[in-house]
Amino acid sequence: MRADIQFVPGNVPADEAEGKVFVVIDALRATTTVIEALSNGCTEVIPVVSVDDAFDLAKKSPGKATLIGGERGGVKVDGFDLGNSPREYTRDVVWGKRVVLTTTDGTKAFHWVAASEHVLVGAFTNAHAVVQRCIALGADPVMVPACKRGKFSLEDAVCGGMMIDLLEKRGVDLTDGARAASILYRSFDGDLLEMARISEHGRTLIRLGFEEDLSFCVQTNISLLVPVFRNGSVRLE
Ligand code: MLT
Repeated sequence: MRADIQFVPGNVPADEAEGKVFVVIDALRATTTVIEALSNGCTEVIPVVSVDDAFDLAKKSPGKATLIGGERGGVKVDGFDLGNSPREYTRDVVWGKRVVLTTTDGTKAFHWVAASEHVLVGAFTNAHAVVQRCIALGADPVMVPACKRGKFSLEDAVCGGMMIDLLEKRGVDLTDGARAASILYRSFDGDLLEMARISEHGRTLIRLGFEEDLSFCVQTNISLLVPVFRNGSVRLE
């Protein structure tokens, strides 16, 4: 097995996906939110690219069983039920519900790897469980940071680097990119909150009043769940 990280965002063609397992990561905050929603009894999360797609999809299943969530510019979209703070996706709110989610970057990243057989949802909160699943699948793991409007995002690279570090400890070989991500992760010497606070997106979230989301999102291994993206939907399998 050899672990890699996709530092340049974009679509992965089906023929390049063979034999690989992709881990979509938007640690601040979309994939943390997806994991939290499913942990709290949400039946499925449908990641869509645009706000219009979200409204259209929700219209096809009117009633209380579908919630629309997500953000633009970090804040809840007018007419949505929820924003993109994982702390909003509590048991009382999401139990038994389907969530249609659209975020600036995170939900787009799922569509880059939609042609692949194995796509997992990763964040700091379930990093160990993701690594276990990658090992069990026996496919080459590829971390897919959602990035920030097409550019490098520190928190996603560090989160991917944490998983790569764990994979290396389990004897997995690394590409140069994977090694760089693991060195980056180790350079924060366990202080993930400080890393999140100095990241561009972390600073934006603090400015918008979401500082508590940073502490939430850098919790490591509070979830044993590994959601899977397949046929346009994220579920627990
Ligand atoms: C995104 O998908 O761009 C992020 O999750 C934005 C956010 O923090 O809400």
